[in-house]
Formats: sequence, structure tokens, C-alpha cells
Amino acid sequence: MEVPLCVLVTGGAGYIGSHTVLELLLDGYKTVVVDNLNNSSEIAIARVRQLAGDHAHNLSFYKMDIRDKPALEQLFASTKFDAVIHFAGLKAVGESVEKPLMYFDNNIIGTITLLEVMAAYGCNKLVFSSSATVYGWPKEVPCTEEFPLSAANPYGRTKLMIEDMCRDIFASNSDWKFILLRYFNPIGAHPSGLIGEDPHGIPNNLMPFIQQVAVGRQPALKVFGTDYSTKDGTGVRDYIHVVDLANGHIAALKKLFDPTIGCEVYNLGTGKGTSVLELVSAFEKASGKKIPLVKTGRRPGDAEIVYASTAKAERELNWKAEHGIEDMCRDQWIWACNNPYGYQTEKTQ
Ligand code: NAD
Ligand code: UFG
Repeated sequence: MEVPLCVLVTGGAGYIGSHTVLELLLDGYKTVVVDNLNNSSEIAIARVRQLAGDHAHNLSFYKMDIRDKPALEQLFASTKFDAVIHFAGLKAVGESVEKPLMYFDNNIIGTITLLEVMAAYGCNKLVFSSSATVYGWPKEVPCTEEFPLSAANPYGRTKLMIEDMCRDIFASNSDWKFILLRYFNPIGAHPSGLIGEDPHGIPNNLMPFIQQVAVGRQPALKVFGTDYSTKDGTGVRDYIHVVDLANGHIAALKKLFDPTIGCEVYNLGTGKGTSVLELVSAFEKASGKKIPLVKTGRRPGDAEIVYASTAKAERELNWKAEHGIEDMCRDQWIWACNNPYGYQTEKTQ
């Protein structure tokens, strides 16, 4: 019998991580999650186990900070990992502007620690969560992987620095294999409504905010900017269903075992642009709820139109997003109805 590959998933209790861990398990991988639960709940791991059914025995979870080098070393000493998918990181743009050192410590030191331990234990295959934020305000769309890169804030700088670190490490030793995935805007949830995004505090991103308005946790959505040169004046983004994104990681993981791969970067998006007002309207249709709007000025640092060229991922990863905005809104709403206060009950809020 073939021994299943064993994958370490850092940040696997989080939004994208939990969806990816489920797809890994369903695909037959042994999966070890490390997460410090800084922005997530162990309930997500229990729900993934529930959804994984017969595959649940292949999942182990350790509450661990990736900066805790002795703990990470102990884990690598006891388990042989074939590859690592690295989600662990802080991701709030505004917070990164307020607390840049916290972002450099968590995201950069965390990644360096992980890479050092991987090197020490002979694990040289990594999939990394980068972001479309590295394209800054793109001069044109769709964004291809060759576009010039920039960082508009400390969070974005950590993504760019980690991408550059991976390129430098590969240049120094071609035994390493890196796939850097630039996500566009993940939204939606697993269609079961059991796992989804559960932001702490007031959400920064559009879809979680719309969801909180729909369930009565926020009075109205502020539309940041109505004077952009777009179809209806509001910002345009490439929203991607989180389950499609999760499957993009399986495709990337398979590619890591292709002997020709070195250090490669892929966009994960749909290639379609959707405005704020279009997303609101699709969500209203899916939920039957009216989302009150307050039109305000532009949010500093926001780009006008960002969407992906998906050609490289389609060609080389043999992966393509399958779900449209309607599916994303439907699944977001199922998650919201089942978990209006996320993984916590209302009473504990
Ligand atoms: P998330 O916050 O839900 O998940 C990140 C997880 O990492 C959390 O569970 C958190 O507890 C954990 N974590 C953070 N620091 C850690 C540390 N030092 N040690 C151990 N665990 C730690 O976020 P997400 O939306 O699932 O994003 C996952 C990754 O994808 C992040 O790196 C993020 O920057 C990147 N990304 C996200 C988006 C997005 O819009 N959601 C877009 C582009 C890139
Ligand atoms: N928006 C509103 N009101 C809100 C929140 C957002 O009108 O309350 C608008 C924004 O102005 C933008 C669009 O909705 O036009 C999407 O905004 P998000 O904050 O949801 O997403 P961004 O594209 O600005 O940024 C997100 C992450 C970044 C990441 C990027 C690409 O916050 O870290 O997606 O992955 F880099």
C-alpha cells in the first residue's frame, strides 16, 4: 500500500487554512496543523474533522507558535514532512500600519524560523500564501505574474519580503522548491456552513462586513469611494470562492513534486472583476436581506481595479476556479445563518 504524503499546514485553523486542510484530508494526505489560535478557534479543527469523515484520523493539531523554534524542531524531529503549506501570519492592513514591528516579528521571523527548521530537517518544499497586494495599484488589468511588485503597507511588505526570501534561498540552493501563491479576494465558505471566516472585532474586508450587516451586527455598509473610473464608480476586485482557493493549494502541492519546478509564482483568482455594488446586490439576492449603504470617501491606499490573469495557473497547475459570485454569496449566507457570531456563541461575545 502506498504511504500517504504528510503535509505540515501552518495557520491551518484559520479561514483559508481550514478549507485547505479539509481538501487535503479528502484527497488522502496526512495533515498536521500548527496554529497559535491568535486569529482562529480550535472549533474550526473539530468541524474539519467532522467534514472529513473517514479521513479525520489523518489530521493532527498542535497549538503552537511558529516562532517557537524548539517546539517546531521537536515536531520535525518526530514527523517526516514531505511539504509545508504556510498560511500562518497576521493579515490586517490597518493594524500593520499601526504596529509594523508586530507584523515583521510574526510574519518575517515566523517564516525565517520555519525555513530554518525545514532546512535542518531536510524538508525543502513550501507553498506560501502571498497576496495580490504585491501588485500595489496595478497600471493595467488583468495582473500577470510578471507585473512590477511594490508594497503599500507593512503587511504587504512582509508578503514581498517573504517572496524575495524564497527567491534568494532558491538562488542559493536549487534543491529547494517554492510555490508562491498570490491570492486575490477569497470570500464564501464551505457549502456545509460548518467552516467559514470568523474575523475578530470589526471586519476590515468587504464580505465579512456585509455579512455582519445582514445578521444585524452592524447597521450599514460604508462604501469606500463612489468616484472610481469603474462601471458604477465603486472599487473592483477579483473575488474567489474559498473552496476554489483551497483546491488551488492541492494543485500547487502536486506541482511541488514536479522535478522541473524551482521557485514559481501563481495568481489564484477568477479573472473576473466585481464592483462593491455588484457584490452587495448579489449578496442581497442570495440572502433576501437589504444591506443599507452609506457612501463615503475612498479608503486610503485602495486600488481602483484589481483582477487576475489566470492563464499561468490554468496552464501550469491545471487549476481553474469553478464558482461564481452567486455561489460565493450563497455559501457565505449559509455560514452566516448557521454561525451569526462565528465559532463562538452569542452569549460569549
Ligand atoms: P487567518 O487569520 O484566518 O489565518 C491565519 C492563521 O495563522 C490564524 O489561524 C492564526 O491564528 C495563525 N497564526 C498567525 N500567526 C501565527 C504564528 N506566529 N504561529 C502560528 N500560527 C499563527 O487568515 P487567512 O485569511 O486564512 O489567511 C491565511 C494566509 O493567507 C495569511 O498569510 C494571509 O496573509 C494570506 N492572505 C489572505 C488573504 C485574505 O484576503 N484572506 C489574501 C491574501 C493573502
Ligand atoms: N470596501 C468597502 N467597504 C468596506 C470594506 C471594503 O467599500 O467596509 C471596498 C474597498 O474599498 C475595496 C473592496 O471593497 O474596493 C474590497 O475591499 P477588501 O478590504 O475586502 O479587500 P482589498 O482588495 O482591499 O484587500 C484584501 C486584503 C489585502 C489583500 C487583498 C488581495 O485586505 O490584504 O485583499 O488579496 F492583499
